[in-house]
Amino acid sequence: MEIRKVGVIGCGLMGSGIAQVAATAGIPTVVREVSQELLDKGFGSIEKSLSKFVEKGSLSAEQKTQTLGRLKPAMNLKDFADCDLVIEAIVENLDRKKELFAELDKIVKPEAIFASNTSSLSITEMMTATRRAPRFLGLHFFNPVPLMKLVEVVKTVVTDPAAVETGLEYGRKVGKTPILTSDRAGFIVNRLLVPYLLDSIRALEEGAGSIEDIDNGMKLGCNHPMGPLTLNDFVGIDTTYYIAEIMFNEFREKRFAPPPLMKRMVMAGMLGRKSGKGFYDYSDPKNPKPNTLLIR
Ligand SMILES: NC(=O)c1ccc[n+]([C@@H]2O[C@H](COP(=O)([O-])OP(=O)(O)OC[C@H]3O[C@@H](n4cnc5c(N)ncnc54)[C@H](O)[C@@H]3O)[C@@H](O)[C@H]2O)c1
Repeated sequence: MEIRKVGVIGCGLMGSGIAQVAATAGIPTVVREVSQELLDKGFGSIEKSLSKFVEKGSLSAEQKTQTLGRLKPAMNLKDFADCDLVIEAIVENLDRKKELFAELDKIVKPEAIFASNTSSLSITEMMTATRRAPRFLGLHFFNPVPLMKLVEVVKTVVTDPAAVETGLEYGRKVGKTPILTSDRAGFIVNRLLVPYLLDSIRALEEGAGSIEDIDNGMKLGCNHPMGPLTLNDFVGIDTTYYIAEIMFNEFREKRFAPPPLMKRMVMAGMLGRKSGKGFYDYSDPKNPKPNTLLIR
């Protein structure tokens, strides 16, 4: 199926990027938010991101104008009726997502494909809110969407192979490398990454090394661009904690269980870079220092 028009629901961090890459790939894209203010904010960040590509020389000023011209802001779901693909990127809340998909299902043409960008919720469970199970899948993009090359295409046990193929093809069309996975909590990337992030916290708790030595171990010993405790701070301790809880509930395996220190950091509001303190103290953001409160 050729994707001639895309709909993106939610124009926050992820939705704005998802809309941007669709429009950059030449596809007319309609984007929904819950208020004019949030639409303006989302379109503002798209404009800013496109300008950076122009500055770097990877996009011409004319291409930027054309890309913006393909993006249509919307508040009414009726504007999505003739979309071939609708990608949902609203808050990570199952009830809110199911409610939205049920509503969309009544409005959007039946042959269109629905996709969710969820990081941790079940695609299958969302699918049950619609009558288009064979045309329901996950398209899990990575942050920041315009820069990150990966998209996980998630199939359920009932996704039609033709819809899966369309998902993979769409990923390629918007300049990503798609990988195919099935609907299990964490898909591929978080299934491997989350236990590693949790283990780095356990290593600290057990006294395997200092914050800096654990990070330097993985940076210099494995050539990772950043250490795991720094990465925990980047992602947000609360976000990883929430995803780990969902994965632990799904698999009931110890390696997905959030360590006690992590839970306490979340309760205390030490959420990483965004709150100014996590495994590092970001009082001077350009020169983070290990958080002395965590050092025994
Ligand atoms: N942030 C990440 O790094 C990341 C990475 C991959 C996937 N995700 C997933 O992407 C989704 C969105 O995450 P985000 O970080 O962009 O969140 P965000 O809070 O930045 O954006 C969500 C936006 O959705 C809007 N919204 C809520 N209900 C809506 C509705 N009914 N219609 C239209 N808009 C609505 C909100 O106003 C908000 O602006 C979540 O499911 C998240 O798990 C996030």
